This record gives sequence, structure tokens and C-alpha cells, in this order.
Amino acid sequence: MERAYDGHDRRTIALMKIRPAELRDRGRILEILIATARFTDVEVRDAMELVDKANDDPAQAEYIVHVLEEPATGPKRMVQGYVCYGPTPHTDGVFDLYWIAVDPKRQGQGIGQLLLRFVENEVRRQRGRMLLIETSSKESYAPTVRFYERSGYDEISRIKDFYRLADDKVVYCKKLTPS
Ligand SMILES: CC(C)(COP(=O)(O)OP(=O)(O)OC[C@H]1O[C@@H](n2cnc3c(N)ncnc32)[C@H](O)[C@@H]1OP(=O)(O)O)[C@@H](O)C(=O)NCCC(=O)NCCS
Repeated sequence: MERAYDGHDRRTIALMKIRPAELRDRGRILEILIATARFTDVEVRDAMELVDKANDDPAQAEYIVHVLEEPATGPKRMVQGYVCYGPTPHTDGVFDLYWIAVDPKRQGQGIGQLLLRFVENEVRRQRGRMLLIETSSKESYAPTVRFYERSGYDEISRIKDFYRLADDKVVYCKKLTPS
């Protein structure tokens, strides 16, 4: 069968659905964030704060949260990843990707790429010209950095020892041209 991306055929990808997060997704998003074992308690709390902001006030446009649901194999569809992004305040056409996470059982199968491409298209649709991603230089983030680089993001700035000694703040950027 034709493969569109590692592990997924085109039909499976076509059946995957990315939609705005709703209140009923809260528990599953929290579960995914914790399951990644990548984030501290404080980071999980901060990530959930943005999810709650988006849920509490659907009219706000600062923090936009979407989930990816895979096709149902049982009675219901299952959320396997989520993303949170938004326009960077005081800029014209710059957006930040705040959080992206995929259930560890489903990582490395193209779900992160689908979510990231979805955000890029949404940013283009909103006349965005640049998507920024801030990350840490910690060794544990090496797979995540590979994910960004393989998705066409370049390191554009680095503040040494920002988070703590030997843990730099690194900003990745992709310039988006209108599609
Ligand atoms: C980073 C993340 C969102 C990527 O999503 P994903 O669905 O695993 O990624 P994809 O399958 O679309 O892309 C695979 C690429 O990502 C990289 N990658 C990152 N984490 C990976 C993992 N656990 N398993 C396999 N590949 C991974 C690899 O470079 C891989 O490319 P390759 O197989 O050609 O080497 C996901 O791994 C994740 O949730 N990580 C933990 C949370 C995190 O670090 N979030 C970002 C900071 S907010």
C-alpha cells in the first residue's frame, strides 16, 4: 500500500481529523502532556492554563488549541495529539507555536507533522509570515529539535544559559510564503 508518511497510508491520514479543542478534550490533553514525560509539573500547568483560556473564552484569538483525532477503531475516536499556537503580540504576521504534544505510543508516526503542517496552513490563512518555536537546548529535547529541523525550521537565535547554566533558549523559525 502507498505510504504517505512513516507508518500511515494515505487513507488513514485522510481519516484523521484536526479540530478545535473542546472542554471534553481537557482530560485527554492533560494525559498526553504527562505521558510524554518531557514536561515539569509547572510546564504542564502552564500548558493547561492556555488550554483552559481557549476553552473558557472561544472568542479570544491569542491562544488557539486544536486536537488530532484518529479514525475510530472502537466505539469512539481517540485524541492522539494537540497543538497550541497564536499570534505574537505587537507583531505584524508573526506567530508562536506554544505547545505541541503527541501520545508517546503514537510518536514517530507522522502525527506531529500533520499537526505542524496544519498550524502552518492556518497561519498562512491568517496572513502570517513567520512561525517561531522556542525550545530548550537540554539533551532530552534532542528528538524534538530533530522534529523541528526535519520540518524545515532553522535556528535563528540562542541565549546561552538562559533557563539555567548549560541550558540555552533556542528559537526556531520558518518563514511562510502564501500558498
Ligand atoms: C515532538 C513531537 C510533537 C513530534 O511528534 P511525532 O508525531 O512524534 O513526530 P512525527 O512522527 O511527525 O515526526 C517524526 C520525526 O520527529 C522526530 N521525533 C521526535 N520525537 C520522536 C519520537 N519520540 N519518536 C520518533 N521520532 C521522533 C524524529 O526526527 C522523526 O523523524 P525521523 O523518524 O525521520 O527521524 C512528539 O514527539 C512529542 O510529543 N514529543 C514530546 C513533547 C515535546 O517535546 N513537544 C515539543 C515542545 S512543546
